[in-house]
This record gives sequence, structure tokens and C-alpha cells, in this order.
Amino acid sequence: MIDRGRMAPVCFLSKEEDLHFEYHCHDCGCTFTSDEVVYLCPECSGTEAKGEFRKGVLSVEYDRQELRRLAQKDDLCIDDFLPFPIVTPQVFPTGPTPLVRPLALSRELGLDLTVKMDSQLLSGSFKDRASILVASQAIHHGTSRIALASTGNAGAAMSAIGAAYGLDIVLFVPASAPVNKLMQSVLYNAHVVPVRGSYDDAFALSIAYTERKGGINRNTAYNPMTIEGKKACSIELFLQLGRRAPDVIYVPTGDGCILGGIYKGFYDLLQAGLIERLPRIICCQSSRSDAIASAFESGQFRDVAASTLADSISVSSPANGRMAVRALRESGGYAVRVEDDEILEAQRQLAAKAGLFVEPASAAAWAALLRDRKNIAAGESVTVLLTGTGFKDMAVFNGRISLPEAISCDVKELDKLDF
Ligand SMILES: Cc1ncc(COP(=O)(O)O)c(C=O)c1O
Repeated sequence: MIDRGRMAPVCFLSKEEDLHFEYHCHDCGCTFTSDEVVYLCPECSGTEAKGEFRKGVLSVEYDRQELRRLAQKDDLCIDDFLPFPIVTPQVFPTGPTPLVRPLALSRELGLDLTVKMDSQLLSGSFKDRASILVASQAIHHGTSRIALASTGNAGAAMSAIGAAYGLDIVLFVPASAPVNKLMQSVLYNAHVVPVRGSYDDAFALSIAYTERKGGINRNTAYNPMTIEGKKACSIELFLQLGRRAPDVIYVPTGDGCILGGIYKGFYDLLQAGLIERLPRIICCQSSRSDAIASAFESGQFRDVAASTLADSISVSSPANGRMAVRALRESGGYAVRVEDDEILEAQRQLAAKAGLFVEPASAAAWAALLRDRKNIAAGESVTVLLTGTGFKDMAVFNGRISLPEAISCDVKELDKLDF
């Protein structure tokens, strides 16, 4: 089934204009084509030592000549860079998301700053970008069933898109997962399956489920189309900036799958000759969940104990950790750690000074920019990627923010107000 070392068209795509691609394993370097749905590298998958990051994550590599031809197109769009088309995108649009210029904050920091609001995607997070491509993958392969493990935004995104396309979404979650994050998926009518066990147990069970019952597995970084879908954000940003990349981009990071997708989008643009160099990608992590930051610094791909309040980036064993570290090196980027109280302060600042309300995981990217400001050279353009809406996690305000006391409905009360 797997034809190694040969570049051939992938048949199910059949449309002339679709890019030809092959799968590439960054760990063993092998490349192969397949018409089947492919997950991890068959050689490297499972060869990692216990307590180390997963091996064998695949990326999708396009024919360079075909990418180069895209550079001649005046009306470039994201679909041009995808391995197969998004089916009827108007059913569940996934962008463009707003590119905000927060003037007060730009002035305060003295930066040429844009903020990419992927928190505005329809399910409330960046994860729609991966889920829409996996939904189209399922449709192209003639299946209506998609299984995954997730405790939060990926599950909600896949469930929302499943509802929109009439697909069956089977979502495995650890029974101990926070209820508020799962309610969205229940409402979108997904089959939510709580598992008595850890996230890793739910992950393994979701894979066993698709092996036994068919359908597509959407686990993050396990299915290479998740990274490929996420790259859409970089291409959209490139188009919004008038066909250029920012000099620096701050990316909130847990598993490293968003970061891998952001890198891949700019990598494809570079291969196409549409940009001259990659932007510096900055991996923004909580100091209480810093597996990728530590691997970048030490060269050791070791799991950590994660416990940040920014639950979407609380990850012990990052699913795309190895690829994320490579992306940092190749882009000339690095990692910035922030404390949880800096994340909360960044969340407050974005809301109070720019009107942007994001969940703590997203605010980690803003906190990282504040910490890293000194490393931005004069004249460099900076984009901060904000990935999840603040409404996702209202529990974080319990005991932190309270409403002012009510006043009587009496004009004399107004004189007591000092504003
Ligand atoms: C809102 C939000 N931001 C950032 C991340 C981090 O993405 P990744 O785990 O791919 O690094 C996630 C992942 O769940 C997320 O939901």
C-alpha cells in the first residue's frame, strides 16, 4: 500500500489543479506516497523511549515546481496550498479571522504590531483550522465517522464541524476532564465517551476505535492533516499583510501542533518563492508546562509534569514536540516561558487596552511578547497569534474578579462616583 521513495499523484484527489504531495518523516527522513489515510511513520512510530516525545510525526511535502508555479498567481488563496479542497467551505467558514492593529498597545510598546484573532473562529478556537481539513479528508475518503481524543478545544472544533457537515464525531475524553470544556461538544451532538483513565488512555482508545470500526482519526499531530490544516493561518496572515510575512510571530504552545502548522505555512510560502525567509517563530509556554522550551534548550526530548492554569497549553508529553523544536531552530526562533500570574495580567491587559477577550492559553503569547520585548529590533514587524476566546474559560475569574456593588436608582448616587 505504501510506495516508498516515489513522487506520484495521490489518486483520490483527482482534480488536476491539486498539488501532488508525499509524506515525509522528520525522524528517519523517509518519504512515501499513499492513497490511503496515513498517520505516523510506520518505521518510527512507537520507537521513542518511555518518557520521551513521540517519534514518527509526518509532514506533507509538495512538489517544489508546482509550489513555484503558485507564485505566478495573482488571486492566490489558501486552497491553492492544500492537499485537497475544503468541501463546500460556506457550510462552516474558517476564516479569514480579523487581523487587529491594537494602536494603544503598539504605541505603548513601540512596536509595529498585529494580532491575529483566531479566537474568532466559529467554535471559539484555532482548532477549527485542523478540523475542517480532516472533515474534508473524511468526505474525500467516503467516510462520515471521525474519532479523536481531546479534553477541550480540538474536540469542540471537530464536533462543531461534524454537526455542520452531518458527520459522526466520536470524542474520547478522560472521565476527569473539566465538564465546562466538554459541554460544547455535547451540545454539538458529538458522541462523547468518557474514559476511566488518563488523556493517553483516551488517545489510545480512540485509535483502537478507528482501527476496529473504521473512519478517520483526528488526533493532534497523529493525523498529518491536522498540521496541514493549521498552516492555513500563516497563508491567510501572509495575504492579509499584503503578501508578506511578519518578521516575528508569537505562538502559544502546548503540544506544538499549532506551532508546527504555523511553521509549515511559512515553509510552503518559502518553497514557492513567495517569501524570502521564515519569520522568527517564538514558542510561548507556561513555566509550569514547558516541555518544548526545555527540549529546545537541552536537546533532550523529555516529558515534564505540567500544571498551568492555562489548561489548553498544559501538556506533559507534546504530541508534536520534535517537529516544533526543529521549527524553532530553522526559523531562528526560540522559546519564552511565562509565569501563570503574567498570563492572567496579559489577559487583563488585552481586554482593558485592546478590547480583546481571550482564554489564558492565548494570553500566554501576549505575556511572552511583553517579556521578550527587548529582543525585537527596531523596525521589525510582530504578529501575536491569539487562539481561543475568553468565553471558553470563565471559571478562571472565580475569586479573581468581582462585580462592583449595586447603587440605588437615585441621581444623588451619581455624585458619589469618582468617574
Ligand atoms: C486556545 C489554544 N491555544 C493554544 C493551544 C496550543 O496548541 P498546541 O497544543 O498545538 O501547541 C491550544 C491547544 O489546545 C489551544 O486550544
